[in-house]
Amino acid sequence: MIVPGYRDHPTERWDPVAPVDPAEAEDFLRRCYLESPRLGPVEPRLAIVRAQIAATGSYVHTTEELTHGAKMAWRNSSRCIGRLYWKSLTVLDRRRARTADEIFSLLVHHLQVAGENQIRPVISIFAAAQPGQRVARVWNEQLVRYAGYRGEDGRVVGDARQVGFTEAMRGFGWRSKGDHFDVLPLAIETPAEGVRLYELPERAVREVPITHPEFAWFTELGLRWHAVPAISNMRLTIGGVHYPLAPFNGWYMGTEIGARNFADADRYDLLPTVANRMGLDTSRESTLWRDRALVELNRAVLFSFEQAGVKMSDHHTESQRFLTHLRREEEAGRPVPADWTWIVPPMSGSLTGVFHRYYEELDLRPAFYLDDEAISLARDGTRCPFGH
Ligand code: ARG
Repeated sequence: MIVPGYRDHPTERWDPVAPVDPAEAEDFLRRCYLESPRLGPVEPRLAIVRAQIAATGSYVHTTEELTHGAKMAWRNSSRCIGRLYWKSLTVLDRRRARTADEIFSLLVHHLQVAGENQIRPVISIFAAAQPGQRVARVWNEQLVRYAGYRGEDGRVVGDARQVGFTEAMRGFGWRSKGDHFDVLPLAIETPAEGVRLYELPERAVREVPITHPEFAWFTELGLRWHAVPAISNMRLTIGGVHYPLAPFNGWYMGTEIGARNFADADRYDLLPTVANRMGLDTSRESTLWRDRALVELNRAVLFSFEQAGVKMSDHHTESQRFLTHLRREEEAGRPVPADWTWIVPPMSGSLTGVFHRYYEELDLRPAFYLDDEAISLARDGTRCPFGH
């Protein structure tokens, strides 16, 4: 499919040996300095950057460029419905960290800052990739995820999405409880040390027990979820420079947990359990028992986070905010790339304003990309994109 702006950009695939493209650097810097006039004139900066690229194959962002670039990358994330608050991103410049120990303690700090009081959107940006050199990365898809174990009978305890990754961690000697909500260790890889596993301390992992506003039996299901969704395996690219380790978080929208993590048949698959407890007729699809269970599951998630004082939005509110974002960006004269299939919430789609329109599909940079290798490492700790 030909998408405007997709073809005429340099490839979205990352070539780890290629030097920084000076045209992409210039494009970013011009935009960045135009949007933040307090940075001063761009021309002198461009001359320096061109010389740096010619001499070293790359260049070093100033803290201001890094900060604004990360915000632009969020703004350009076509799958994110939560972009209204892109300017409020807290950017932690971690480019000097090298060892796995240093990286780990900064990731713990990230989770603590993000989880304080309300949830705060934060990104920690570690060292940029240098052309031809190996990079540090985190294998996990998120900083906090629950392990999954497939038993002899084929049934899964925990998050079925994490079965392969969990096996890989066990292969490295990780010992776990085998429960439904075991927080996975972080697998941090650095060029000098290879991959090392780290157990997150309790203070870094805020969790919410799930209860229901009316159904007292809901507590017996023993459900919980972590407060902070922090994606840890996407590559941030700003002005032609790649940051393979740049974990970021926002706050949750309830449906991510209630309509996907808990409901998907290949995740926790809880709709049959909830429907049975509710006493619904599950003998025929046309009783809409799935839909009724889904609503109660989502009420429980929203109710529980509210009770715990952990920020979370519902899909109606977040949808309205996104429409506000579209208006504001239009006023600012900027296009808003958006992917309908991701923007529309996974339940009650047509009840939300974002359902009833189309969007521009553009590949604008700065941006976040998920590389094949990152997908593979998060899936089962292998590097082969086409592995099992
Ligand atoms: N959907 C993912 C999850 O359930 C999180 C993706 C990012 N979400 C966010 N609200 N920033 O864990």
